[in-house]
Amino acid sequence: MNIKEIINVRKSTRNFLPDPVPQEILEEILEAGRLAPSAQNRQPWRYLVFNDNRKIRELAKNCGLIGLSNFFIKEAPLVIIACAETKSNVRINNQDYYLVDTAISFQQMILTATAHGLGTCWMAAFSEKTLSKYLQLPPSWRIVAISPFGYPAEKKSLYSKALSALAKSKDRLPMDKIVTYK
Ligand SMILES: Cc1cc2nc3c(=O)[nH]c(=O)nc-3n(C[C@H](O)[C@H](O)[C@H](O)COP(=O)(O)O)c2cc1C
Repeated sequence: MNIKEIINVRKSTRNFLPDPVPQEILEEILEAGRLAPSAQNRQPWRYLVFNDNRKIRELAKNCGLIGLSNFFIKEAPLVIIACAETKSNVRINNQDYYLVDTAISFQQMILTATAHGLGTCWMAAFSEKTLSKYLQLPPSWRIVAISPFGYPAEKKSLYSKALSALAKSKDRLPMDKIVTYK
């Protein structure tokens, strides 16, 4: 797949097959994150990798997921938590860049996973307080996102269909709403 196809084909996946993600693909995904650009090359991203189903199920119970809505991560064979070391933050124009840096890096990982036919779902609806405590993270770390990674299941749960419809996931703003030629 070329980059255009990867971007077009990526969509949030909330139903997974139990098949594991091969180690060489996982390493390629992590390498894509490692190579990302960052403000002053500070590379604040830190990744926690869960590829043991028992630990993933425990994680799903302990990350303060909002309601039942994100409990689907328990079915995934791989979950990666994207954190940021705020000691490596750069502040420019009154803006902290650790979030931007980590988001760029994580999205590179998500697109690499897509290129291998894997499904992902960027998730923000968790309790950072609960999860940081569970993972015993250093106080200088922020949790930026969680994503499951796995081969998408053909059969979608009712919940997954409802969420996608609710979020109007296929809709995008028209070009003239987001771009101004000056
Ligand atoms: C920052 C961010 C947070 C999100 N949080 C969640 C979440 O907690 N749970 C979930 O199921 N989807 C979550 N999503 C997925 C969005 O609902 C989804 O990207 C959007 O509806 C567009 O659909 P698509 O990803 O299939 O193109 C999140 C996406 C982003 C970028």
